[in-house]
Order: sequence, then C-alpha cells, then structure tokens
Amino acid sequence: MGSQAIFNVKDEWWRSAVIYQIYPRSFADANGDGIGDLQGITQRLPYLASLGVDAVWLSPFYKSPQADAGYDVADYRQVDPLFGTLDDFDAMLNKAHGLGLRIIVDLVPNHSSDEHEWFQAALASPPGSPERERYIFRDGKGEHGELPPNNWKSVFGGGAWTRPEGEQQWYLHLFDTKQPDFNWNNPEVRDEFTAVLRFWLDRGVDGFRVDVAHGLIKKEGLPDCSVQQAMIEGGDPGPMWDQDGVHDIYKQWRSVLDEYDGDRMMVAEAWVVPQERLARYIRSDEMQQAFNFEYLGSQWNARDVRKVVDDSLAQTALVGAPTTWVMSNHDGVRHASRFGLSTPGYRPKGISAKDEQPDEALGLERAHGFAFMTFFLPGSAYIYQGEELGLPEHTTMDDKYRQDPTFWRTKGEEIGRDGCRVPLPWQADAPAFGFGPSDKSWLPQPPNFARYAVDVEEKDSDSTLALYRRVLALRAEHRLGKGKLEWLESPTPDALLARNGDVYTLLNFGAEPVALPWSDVEILASSKALSAHQQLQSGGGVWFKRL
Ligand code: GLC
Ligand code: CA
Repeated sequence: MGSQAIFNVKDEWWRSAVIYQIYPRSFADANGDGIGDLQGITQRLPYLASLGVDAVWLSPFYKSPQADAGYDVADYRQVDPLFGTLDDFDAMLNKAHGLGLRIIVDLVPNHSSDEHEWFQAALASPPGSPERERYIFRDGKGEHGELPPNNWKSVFGGGAWTRPEGEQQWYLHLFDTKQPDFNWNNPEVRDEFTAVLRFWLDRGVDGFRVDVAHGLIKKEGLPDCSVQQAMIEGGDPGPMWDQDGVHDIYKQWRSVLDEYDGDRMMVAEAWVVPQERLARYIRSDEMQQAFNFEYLGSQWNARDVRKVVDDSLAQTALVGAPTTWVMSNHDGVRHASRFGLSTPGYRPKGISAKDEQPDEALGLERAHGFAFMTFFLPGSAYIYQGEELGLPEHTTMDDKYRQDPTFWRTKGEEIGRDGCRVPLPWQADAPAFGFGPSDKSWLPQPPNFARYAVDVEEKDSDSTLALYRRVLALRAEHRLGKGKLEWLESPTPDALLARNGDVYTLLNFGAEPVALPWSDVEILASSKALSAHQQLQSGGGVWFKRL
C-alpha cells in the first residue's frame, strides 16, 4: 500500500513546485541605491516566469534595522523603506499572480528586532511586568547578577545573553544581540503571530517560510547545555532546539491556513536530525514542507547521494508529505563553489581568501551534473537566486565590506555568509553588472561575475541558464515532481542510474567516463555532450528515454 492510500494525497501545487528563493537586497535594484527592492523584483518577474518556476520565496523585506539582513524584524506588518512600500508589495504580488507565480513570504517568529516596539516597551518596564513577559528576561547569576543566567551560546558566536547598560536583568538571544527571543509560552505572543499570519494571508500570499522553526520553545527552566552547542550536534538538540512544544504552534497555524482557499502552505526551516524528527514538522496537520538540509549537505559521492535521497523519501512518505530538494540558500557557500572544494559538504561559515580556493570550472561542471539529480526527484525543488546562472561564491571579498553578524561576533574567525549574498549580475558590460540603474552594489561583485551575467547566458545555448530552462521544462512536461523514483543497477559504483516514469537519468560521480547502459535511447538533455559510444563524462548528468 503506497502513501497515497494512507494519506489521501491531493494534488496541491506545493507537492511538486519548483520554488525560487529571492534574497531581496541582492536580486534587483530599481532606484539605484545599491540595494535590491520590491520594484526591482516586480520588473524582473518575467525572467522568473521564463525560467519555469512555480513560486517565489522572498527573504524578509519587513521594517528592520538590518542587523541580520532583515531577519531582525521591527514591524511584521510594514515594508522597510529600503525595499519599498506595502503598495509596492501588492503590485508585485498581483503581477506575480498574473504570471502564474505564487508568492511565499518569510516569517520570523523566534525573535524580533530589539527595535520592535514590544522590546522597547519591555526595556522601559520593570522586571516581572507583562511587557517583559513577551521576551525571555532573567536575573543573572553571581553575587550581583553579573553572570549570564545559563551557559548557552549564540548561533552567531559569543554568548546568548545580553545585559543592557544599567539593567539588572539579562535577555536571551539565540542569534545576534539585536534579535531578542520571544517567549512563546505567552499567549499574547501566540495571538500576535496568528494576527500576522492573517495580515499576509488576507493580502493574498500563498505561503510562509518559517524561520528557525525548531527554536521557538525552550526547555522548561532553561538548563545549562551539556555540550556547548549552538546548533544541533550529533543528534542532541540540547535545551533550545526541537522541543516537542513547537508542534502545538504549527498545528494552530495550520488550522488558520486551512480557513483560506488556494492551498496556502508553510515550509519549515528546521535544523533537525535525524530525518524522522524533521518529518514531525510536516505531519498532515502541521506544515506542508521542510527544507531538506541533509540533501543540501551532500558530498560529491554516488553512495552518499543515494542514501540521502532514500532516507528523505522514506521519512517524508511516512507522514504523507512531499520531499524537498535544496542545493543552496542564503546561509551557506554556493554549491557551484562547494563542489569545487576537496570536501564539498555544507559550509555555513563561508570561504575566505586565506582558505582553500574552489576550482571554479570543476565546481560548475558538478553543479550542472547535480542539477540532473535535483530536478529529477519527485517532490518540490528549490533554487537559490543566481544558481540558475551557476554563480560562484565571492571568496576574496575585502573584510571591510562584510556585514554578516557572524563575522563580527566571531572577530573574523568565521568569515560568514556575505559571499553567497552578492548582488546578481544582469548585464556584463553595465556598471554593477546591471544590478540597478547606478554603479552601486551593497556588497562588491567579483570580476568573474561578468561571465555569469544574465545577458551573456541568454545568448549561449550551453549556459547554466539555458540548461536550467531546458531541465525545468522537461521536469514539467514529464511530471517528474509528481512521479516516483526507482533506482536501477548502475553501470559502475561511481554512477547512479534511476527512472522516474518514462524518463531515465544517469549521473557520473566518478573520474572515468561511464557508458549509457542501452543504445536505443533518445537523449532529452545532458550537462555535457556525450562522446562517441554514448559515454557520459566525469561529473556529467543526462536524462533520456528508452525507445
Ligand atoms: C535563519 C535564516 C538566517 C538568519 C537566522 C536568524 O537561519 O535563514 O539567515 O540569520 O535564521 O533569523
Ligand atoms: Ca534599491
């Protein structure tokens, strides 16, 4: 009996959608201040429609002092003037819907900005007041309360507690000092977020990407960590992550979404292991999707990739949810560069000029090959802006430009995420590579971006962009996202051979060429031209039909 029979799976759009992540400050700048904005996005929506994606997820554009590039929200119902206005948002949403693109917005419920009016009110109110109860304030340890209440660390480095000047109490922030954690045991916080959900649902958004979904509830009593973990390590979530209480929140949100038409959805950003714990976030009465970070961390290795794919499919099938396939996002080194390193797994800490430099050509070749795996798989696939251009990480950025709090909080020990957040190149010979109408770009773009500019790739039938368009069109035509994966015996242990409906794929992770197992085939697409005798080169991927 398949999962369909158990879960009565419907044909909701999000089960097989290709979703494109826009990082608004780096996508397209309409007014020339060097920072991407909503009007810039609106102007470029036809490009996304022509790419063949179904939906767009926007990282935060809300009112924010930008201490963590907008993941520090000061007002959940306002657009930051940096990005435009609510009218600009509505115009973008309308145009997207007119083009058949759905819009998913980011929701940041674990913490607000310290400039949020609630946090300002908390600071202005005494310990024990209702204003303070919306956040996590505690007295310190030590004779005069001069020591933090426990030993937790911030994900961004340093301690997780701050005691403001002249204050008796400390407040908790799992991220930057300017990102105080909410107290989710307080019904007022819950009601506020339900209202925020409704605010955006009423405006017509199609869903939410839920930031730090595994962090909202902390263990009762906030006990010390046994390990000094900032993120889940070795399967132990510690007292701050993946507490059972988070699921009540998502059940309640799901009931709100279900009041609306149009199959609105939520996708969890939950750094949770193993996959069976992650699957709890996507039970049929919780969220619809969770990012598959294990896949994002894949090594360049046939056996490991197959194992991650199998585990992911098996665990999501148990709860009747689609699997997601993610290669890059705004928090880690771009995969075109990771795959050019000796250990290509996930890298949240960035690459600096002092580190091993990626082999650009090798990384790009493998990124092309890996796309033939990602878009072949049943479920929902994500694209991080620029990966459709094969864009590499900026690995030689001068430190003076860096803005990621990780860099500053670790005093440069961790280089941080700026290298994957560089503004996109639209035009090779324009100032700032056509990012906007001026020569400004909030992070400097490296010279090699010229090769990856959209206008260059549009003219080249062998470009990454051309390859993505072809592969996404085939994925839609053959309904691969709604299909079923079946592994077949591969010609060599370094290759993977699989079938999804009437389409087959061969992926070569080894150093030697691999021959297609059959000669009576029609090649639908390949990342590298096949040589004589249907040999697939090292790093290549191909889709074909049998005749
Ligand atoms: C998530 C976001 C990341 C942000 C953090 C704190 O991990 O993806 O960019 O810094 O949450 O909000
Ligand atoms: Ca701008």
